[in-house]
Amino acid sequence: MNDMSSRGLPRLRAEIDAIDDEILRLIEQRLAVSDAVAALKDSEGDGRLKFRPRRQAEVIARLAKKVARAPATLVGAVWRELMGHGLQAQARTEIVLCGPIDRAVLEAHVRSHFGYAFPLSWASTDAEALRRARDEEAIAIVAGPLPQLDRRLAICDLVRAPDGTAVAHAVGRVADEDCAVSRPEPAAGAPVSGALAPAWSPSSWRLRKAEQMPVYPDAGALSRVERRLDAAPPLVSVADIMMLRASLARVAAGQAFILQGGDCAESFAEFGADKVRDTYSLLLRMGAMLRAGSGADVVHLARIAGQFAKPRSSGSETIDGITLPTYRGDAVNGAPFASASRTPDPRRLLDAHRQAQVTIDLLHAYAAASYADLPDIHRAVGLAAQARPVSMYTSHEALLLNYEQALTRFDEASESWWAMAGHMIWIGDRTRAPDGAHVEFARGVANPVGLKCGPSLSSDDLLRLIERLDPDNRPGRLVLIGRFGAGKVGAHLPELMRATRREGRNAIWSVDPMHGNTRSVGALKTRLLGDIIAEIQAFFDIAGAEGVHAGGVHLEMTGAEVTECLGGSAPHLEADLPSNYLTHCDPRLNRAQALDVAGAVAKLLAKAARAGRDAA
Ligand code: PEP
Ligand code: CO
Repeated sequence: MNDMSSRGLPRLRAEIDAIDDEILRLIEQRLAVSDAVAALKDSEGDGRLKFRPRRQAEVIARLAKKVARAPATLVGAVWRELMGHGLQAQARTEIVLCGPIDRAVLEAHVRSHFGYAFPLSWASTDAEALRRARDEEAIAIVAGPLPQLDRRLAICDLVRAPDGTAVAHAVGRVADEDCAVSRPEPAAGAPVSGALAPAWSPSSWRLRKAEQMPVYPDAGALSRVERRLDAAPPLVSVADIMMLRASLARVAAGQAFILQGGDCAESFAEFGADKVRDTYSLLLRMGAMLRAGSGADVVHLARIAGQFAKPRSSGSETIDGITLPTYRGDAVNGAPFASASRTPDPRRLLDAHRQAQVTIDLLHAYAAASYADLPDIHRAVGLAAQARPVSMYTSHEALLLNYEQALTRFDEASESWWAMAGHMIWIGDRTRAPDGAHVEFARGVANPVGLKCGPSLSSDDLLRLIERLDPDNRPGRLVLIGRFGAGKVGAHLPELMRATRREGRNAIWSVDPMHGNTRSVGALKTRLLGDIIAEIQAFFDIAGAEGVHAGGVHLEMTGAEVTECLGGSAPHLEADLPSNYLTHCDPRLNRAQALDVAGAVAKLLAKAARAGRDAA
């Protein structure tokens, strides 16, 4: 029996009570001294806050070095509270938050950084928060980029997430020597703007407003899935992503063309080796047609091995008085209208990941296989048997950021973060808010990034997005994918292309002639080949007129003989749509229609090549 337990529980409790009394006595004593400090600060009368973030950080750092048994986090938490209460006794000091980010998350970070003694409030704009920091006993917490600061204000501290990432600036009337962060010396007269912009990390998207993400009822299950994906091997290699970037740099230089295509949404039920092989061979055959017509180098990008989640126009669906979450793709929930299948289940992310892995293995196998096994591809591509296989890169919309983050890896050699769930990711038209979570995630990974550009995108917002996603203007980094619809492309695209050209941007322009051309026939959605080809043609015409390289086409298609779009080879009649309508999501071109579209694109590419030669 050891010494402690021999004394018995009552005696130990009495001992703890005595220690607590002593702690309390010391706390009272500490607060009394802190009142005396306040009186001295008052006499300074310099209009500054009583808040001294640097002193607080030093107190905690000094004590944290001394601990033996207590974890440093305990020291931080206790002394932050003590000092927070001391400060409030000196002067009620409010924290004013603002920013286009998730309120609960930012409040949690602010609480863990400043403690609970501060009253919190929200301002509707950065300007209002900063005005209050200037005129009141208040600290502004600004999560977005900082505007120019009034000279009385300083960035006095950084709010950090538990992983140490800076997520917001604390701004207040604090003397430079009292700030917990040292301010980079601004050039005379230059705005402080942009200084200390909160750093990117794979998780920094979590502070931003995330559109179109499922609400998982079981947060514990989600984090277990995230941990498993964290530990999983990456799906693609950094070397291959770099090769894709190099190929896309050639597109940016006007020397190559992107052929991107595949299912609107991959499905668990329809998965099979034949399906992957059909998509692969169809893309290669189409690529061969484009090359044959124009001599253009083709970059093959499949919408595959990760295209499992869909943005939806509504979060819920009501049938016969029953409301359930909408179907958001097999990585999120099931299509059948029943509570069990529609409830988002994070374990589906593991299924999606497994299917993506098998898909990529199959793509490698087809690429490496002797072309003798794939005679029609061999003929179509026109390659000698010993020629290198055509690489097929993978791409998907980076919609489910928990999944993307868990598969993001740091590569020492390139000193960069890479999204390893696919070679290229894109940001959808519904999730491209410049301050939103999806843009935040994509801006920090080094992969090529696509950005869907629809009719609601202004040229100012486009330039802001480009600045955020590609600040260094690197050729091959950014692909702008216009998706306006045949009827609208003429009203929107010229101004956007003019803006990127005027600003000397290297971003590639591509066209998605699918998503702006969806129409309903009864309960089914369809797209007309006439609309699709008209939008592609308008895209080439506008690019030609604006002096921009028409850099690619982005299609929803399948190698199967579905009846989802109308026109071209077949089907032609609305009445034929139900006969093999398989998509859970958007209507896809069938194999024959995809080849029809490739034929049309080949002609346009050949014409553009002739125009280029004539101009030279
Ligand atoms: C898509 O490509 O499947 C899609 C949803 O596109 P967009 O974001 O352009 O609507
Ligand atoms: Co779609």
